[in-house]
Amino acid sequence: MTTNVDPALEGLLGQARDAARNSYSPYSGFRVGAALRLASGGVVTGTNVENVSYGLTMCAERSALVRAVSEFGPTIRITAIAVANLNNAASPPCGACRQMLAEFALPDAPVVFPAADGLRVMSFSDVLPLAFDMKLK
Ligand code: THU
Repeated sequence: MTTNVDPALEGLLGQARDAARNSYSPYSGFRVGAALRLASGGVVTGTNVENVSYGLTMCAERSALVRAVSEFGPTIRITAIAVANLNNAASPPCGACRQMLAEFALPDAPVVFPAADGLRVMSFSDVLPLAFDMKLK
């Protein structure tokens, strides 16, 4: 099944797919790409970068996030997220990436990703309903 997604999200998915071509994934062979649309209008992409220690592996979503903050600073807001892989497999963002993205993603930002039954689009708040948060003041 393939869900029809709106053309803007299709474009973002294409950018995520392009990013996946740069994947460094010699251990899993799973090539993932992520694309983040920012409130400023720009798009930042990332891919997964694995490590022989396995545990140090960086997911595509977090690569894109760290790159976005590094390039555009701490006030960025993410208005849409796309995840793609070149393995024809389901790849919703992992829990660690969801928590990291929660810091910058708008609750109603659409998240598009390949699910078991085809492309799925969900709002960020549905993807991570109860993010850890801490009010210091
Ligand atoms: N991976 C991602 O890039 N994003 C996710 O949300 C889950 C998993 C990567 C990490 C590793 O390189 C490969 O997929 C297999 O787990």
